[in-house]
Amino acid sequence: MQLCRTVAQVRALRPRFERLGFVPTMGSLHDGHLGLIRRAKATCGAVAVSVFVNPIQFAPGEDLERYPRDLERDLELAQGAGADFVFAPEPSELYPAGFSSRVDVGLTHGAENAARPGHFSGVATVVAKLFNIVQPTVAVFGQKDAEQCAVIRRLAADLDLPVKIDIAPTAREPDGLAMSSRNSYLSPVERAAAAAVSRALGAAQARFHSGERDPDVLRIAVAAVLGAEPLAQTQYVAFADPDSLAPLSTPARRMLLSLAVRFGRTRLIDNVLLDAGGI
Ligand code: PAF
Repeated sequence: MQLCRTVAQVRALRPRFERLGFVPTMGSLHDGHLGLIRRAKATCGAVAVSVFVNPIQFAPGEDLERYPRDLERDLELAQGAGADFVFAPEPSELYPAGFSSRVDVGLTHGAENAARPGHFSGVATVVAKLFNIVQPTVAVFGQKDAEQCAVIRRLAADLDLPVKIDIAPTAREPDGLAMSSRNSYLSPVERAAAAAVSRALGAAQARFHSGERDPDVLRIAVAAVLGAEPLAQTQYVAFADPDSLAPLSTPARRMLLSLAVRFGRTRLIDNVLLDAGGI
């Protein structure tokens, strides 16, 4: 497996691969990322991974400085999962002096966009750059970041980017907690409490599967579970159209239920797609 630190190194390596899968990450790899790498490898036969803590997707006061970084460990794990190369640039490689462009996808309805203004423009900008540099055949993202997935699908479609976007199911710990690099911030007590997030989604999902379609009723099922967990500070419970992210307040057969919940200083997000199928 090769390590590329510059755009020029990636460009020199890229012609070796006909089909190339790509997994963009911010490092601190966990089993969820490794599953995405294996999936991309199985689809394309070769896979590139980027490891880059993208400063422009963090607002002042967020966790840019304390975001976990361990490139040596990431390289070992990526190699073990089958990565052919890792692109791990310094911030100055992607954002040299004078850099001033921003990609704004304009899906502004989402709850995560409202909670983190400017975040998705930072994500779309770096992902557009990474796609142009790596030129992947298929790029794989995790459903855990549902709003990010919608933004990236829109970005690729609107800008005619020649890449297939593949969304993989959320990888979960045995107690249901969605895998995330930020889980490492949780104290043991917070970690135990954080399982309430997936339990809350499960409660709404069970009501949906037994025929309940009203977001207001499903919201009560979510609130009952989160309200019973004293450490859970709910930031939002949102029901939205999975593609446009437009909020839903009336019964629907297909909706994205997303949550953002704080445990101490750690903010976790998770979601479930509620889909009754049919037309
Ligand atoms: O999901 C992430 O880890 C990041 O948002 C991404 C897609 C790598 C862009 O920095």
